[in-house]
Amino acid sequence: MDEQSVTQTIQELERKLGELERTLRAMGAPPAEPAPPQPATPQPAPQAPAPGEASAAGAFAPRHTGFGRIVDESIEAERGLEAASQGSAPAPPASPPAPPARTPPPRAAAPVPPAPAASPPRAAAPGPAELLRFRERLERAARDLTHDYDELLGRLSYAAMPTTTGPTISFARGVPSLDIIDVDGLKEAAVRAFESDPEGTTAYGTAVGYPRLRAWIADKHGVEVDRVLVTNGSLQADAFLFDHLVGAGDEVIVESPTYDRTLLGLRQRGAQLHPVALQPDGIDTAALAALLEGGVRPKLAHIIPNFQNPAGYTLSLRKREELLELAARYDFVVLEDDPYAELRFTGETVPTMLSIDGSHVVYASSFTKTVAPGVRVGYLVGPAELIAALIKRATNTYISPNMVSESLVYEFCASGKIAGSIETVKRALAERSSTLCQALRRELPEAEFVEPEGGYFLWVTLPAGTDVHRLFDAAAERGVAFVKGTDFLLEGGENTLRLAYSGVTTDEVEEGVRRLAEAYRSL
Ligand SMILES: Cc1ncc(COP(=O)(O)O)c(C=O)c1O
Repeated sequence: MDEQSVTQTIQELERKLGELERTLRAMGAPPAEPAPPQPATPQPAPQAPAPGEASAAGAFAPRHTGFGRIVDESIEAERGLEAASQGSAPAPPASPPAPPARTPPPRAAAPVPPAPAASPPRAAAPGPAELLRFRERLERAARDLTHDYDELLGRLSYAAMPTTTGPTISFARGVPSLDIIDVDGLKEAAVRAFESDPEGTTAYGTAVGYPRLRAWIADKHGVEVDRVLVTNGSLQADAFLFDHLVGAGDEVIVESPTYDRTLLGLRQRGAQLHPVALQPDGIDTAALAALLEGGVRPKLAHIIPNFQNPAGYTLSLRKREELLELAARYDFVVLEDDPYAELRFTGETVPTMLSIDGSHVVYASSFTKTVAPGVRVGYLVGPAELIAALIKRATNTYISPNMVSESLVYEFCASGKIAGSIETVKRALAERSSTLCQALRRELPEAEFVEPEGGYFLWVTLPAGTDVHRLFDAAAERGVAFVKGTDFLLEGGENTLRLAYSGVTTDEVEEGVRRLAEAYRSL
């Protein structure tokens, strides 16, 4: 999908949302829901206001004036636009991931029409019949808007890939497949949340998070409750911490390769990044020590200790201890970013750095991988003063995180359901990982990798000279998606890729590897 068509569709959606809001304001009602969140990538170009929009704010008609016409015109304009754009070409294939092929809405590439002008004020208030008609139109417009938005989101996330091989098999997304999410358990937990604590579940709450879940997390890690902050996903927790600790020009240590969103978050804050090579037993602590001896003074080292994203490697106990010593000597914070800790399916558990010596550690984890990504519940454990400062930030950002989600997650955890959920996920991951490794050895013996002991990911190195960008395209043509290794590195990695096996069945793994090998041979 090209950027221009995304931009046009977003502009179109915004225009329609603006119409709805104007219409509601014209009724004297509060605006509809806030604008739907835009997909993170690609960023639309800054847009000019639709004609007439700039003056609209001051010109909103008073209560009971002009609304019928506005909605009429909006729907008519929409129908005309649809008719005019029938047959327009579908958007070209986009980057991964791409399960079921979707047909993009023909409207997407259509020109954006001018916003309809508001009609002059009416003399009399509308009668009940008129209001009912209006409500119907408004609902239709809202449905259209939601539909268009979903279409756009669908096209970005599940981009249509014309293949001769059926639906795309995606090794691209680090998400669990639906069959390993305990949907029934979550439904029951939701009911219990509303029944056992209707007030706490529905209130704003405070920035620390849902108190019962906060206490459950504190117990789990054997810390005082004031050392815990529960957030909307651990990415939000990371963002608070980065905002607090990292300013423009500050030095930060990152693993190489590392989670692409970490790189993005740190770069957005202007950090000066020092990538340190990742080895199968974790970050190269000798190289880190050399950097520190050479004068690098980081504020932070971002470390993913278990089943690292993207490499799947785990930091050994020896290196955890070395890292903690370096952090104490050079006085920097280790962000122990640990969402995969519970997903070990073979080998011995290694203690967290937080539990070894938490004085320089901020620990982050999440229920994304153990419960479901959609709950968006993550957390930080750190020194109480730091957590207190982050609570202030959180209050100023959103008052409180999502209490409904946190209350639900609490019920899921406290009832013991989470243990069953983790077992289900681990069993599936073990099977998928082993199938993937066997299939690669058979179909693509050139691939080098370390078989994971847990987590979601396998890092593959192909012979030097392999161009992963070409491989990516060749794989897409055959209906298989992955993430290029270059996305996780500041430089290099042109012969590497990340395969996520969390969201694919074993049958899909077999077929996906067969297609990947065929793509490799076609280069
Ligand atoms: C290392 C790492 N940290 C954080 C996250 C994001 O977690 P959450 O969904 O809790 O925001 C991910 C998700 O893939 C991850 O791999």
